[in-house]
Amino acid sequence: MKIVIVGATGTIGKEVSRSFDNEHEVIRVGSKSGDIQADIQSPESIERLFDQIQEFDALICTAGNGHFGPLSNMTDREFRKGINSKLLGQVNLLLIGQHYVNPNGSFTLTSGIVWEEPILNAANLSAVNGAINSFAIAAAIELKNNARINVVCPSICENSPEMFDLFPGYEKVTTDRIVNGYRKSVLGPFTGKIIRIY
Ligand SMILES: NC(=O)c1ccc[n+]([C@@H]2O[C@H](COP(=O)([O-])OP(=O)(O)OC[C@H]3O[C@@H](n4cnc5c(N)ncnc54)[C@H](OP(=O)(O)O)[C@@H]3O)[C@@H](O)[C@H]2O)c1
Repeated sequence: MKIVIVGATGTIGKEVSRSFDNEHEVIRVGSKSGDIQADIQSPESIERLFDQIQEFDALICTAGNGHFGPLSNMTDREFRKGINSKLLGQVNLLLIGQHYVNPNGSFTLTSGIVWEEPILNAANLSAVNGAINSFAIAAAIELKNNARINVVCPSICENSPEMFDLFPGYEKVTTDRIVNGYRKSVLGPFTGKIIRIY
């Protein structure tokens, strides 16, 4: 399979890329790193990305961030950080990518546990993650040519120690478990699923 991985050089993305590398053609994408550079915050940049790649069998996105900070002084501008990056970035990968994906191909997006188990200072990411999950459930019943879409929704990863303090009492999940979520989505038959890794 030709598998496009956006965010392929990140903590999660690099392990996901490695797991598919032996048996598949993996195209690594980052805004500054990877085989091809594209900025998911720019629809024009995403258009250029698919123009370059043309057809593909699976797209995985492990890129996108949001704003961390207290609700009491959060601004519109700060809230839009997650909307423009993690939410619209992934939504646009699907809206544009659906015209390039091969029949029976798949999209796998990334959300996160805080959509239903909030932590302090993450209202922006909670909202964004919930929207990504809902978007996938709805897109799954409309995608053409048997294309599928799922979301991997992880808890805090064992390889992200810089974030441990933000998640007090949350069990860290192994990278292997997270990687298997992406493998399930790409290699399995199902669609419209939120693959919780927690
Ligand atoms: N790590 C965790 O514990 C955890 C838990 C739950 C959910 N998540 C979610 O999983 C995703 C990945 O997390 P991570 O910790 O692996 O992130 P990360 O280590 O920061 O990696 C981010 C990746 O995305 C790329 N990227 C960043 N901005 C981009 C842009 N505008 N356009 C295209 N590529 C871009 C980066 O490459 P460049 O630098 O080249 O752009 C890098 O490859 C995030 O959505 C995060 O919210 C993570």
